[in-house]
Amino acid sequence: MKSIVCVSPDWGIGDGAGMLYHIPGDLKYFREQTAGHTVIMGRKTLDSLPGGKPLPKRRNIVLTRDRGFARPGVYLCHDLMELQELLASLGEKDPFVIGGGEIYKMLLPWCDSCLVTRVEQPPEIRPSVFFPNLEKEGWTEKSQTPPLEENGLRYRFTEWVRE
Ligand SMILES: NC(=O)c1ccc[n+]([C@@H]2O[C@H](COP(=O)([O-])OP(=O)(O)OC[C@H]3O[C@@H](n4cnc5c(N)ncnc54)[C@H](OP(=O)(O)O)[C@@H]3O)[C@@H](O)[C@H]2O)c1
Repeated sequence: MKSIVCVSPDWGIGDGAGMLYHIPGDLKYFREQTAGHTVIMGRKTLDSLPGGKPLPKRRNIVLTRDRGFARPGVYLCHDLMELQELLASLGEKDPFVIGGGEIYKMLLPWCDSCLVTRVEQPPEIRPSVFFPNLEKEGWTEKSQTPPLEENGLRYRFTEWVRE
């Protein structure tokens, strides 16, 4: 399992309703990495997507504790056990965790790598949702691209692995 995320310098990822930055190059990278794969997200992240709709060209799994919740085009799981069972029944060994904060934190122990887009500038919006600080969690940055620039923002694509 792999996480994919875009973070501010202090590992912020959102304000609870949306993301902190708009970086088309990062959205393209996200699409390229996850296209054709299974993505796992929390119900709040699903609600933050355009129209609250699942991502096209990917198998979407959504975690919610609400047994009355329904949304077309998604697999629903109500706890970790159900998620484990669903992944096994689908034969899915390499899904992407795509957020948000609660789900990244919960599934980090299951991840063997994290694709982290690191933005150098602090966001204009104050973050209230965070990704775990991988440096403090004992992960290592295995690779990073040279800095890219877009919309006045400098960012790098990095890959992190456990030490
Ligand atoms: N920067 C990025 O790359 C990135 C990526 C994704 C999201 N985000 C941002 O992250 C923020 C949303 O994150 P969040 O932490 O507020 O919400 P979230 O992780 O997307 O979703 C939380 C929801 O997941 C469900 N859930 C959590 N633990 C569960 C469990 N053990 N079993 C079953 N369901 C469980 C619950 O849904 P119910 O309430 O329905 O029970 C909970 O309210 C937004 O601002 C979004 O834009 C940023």
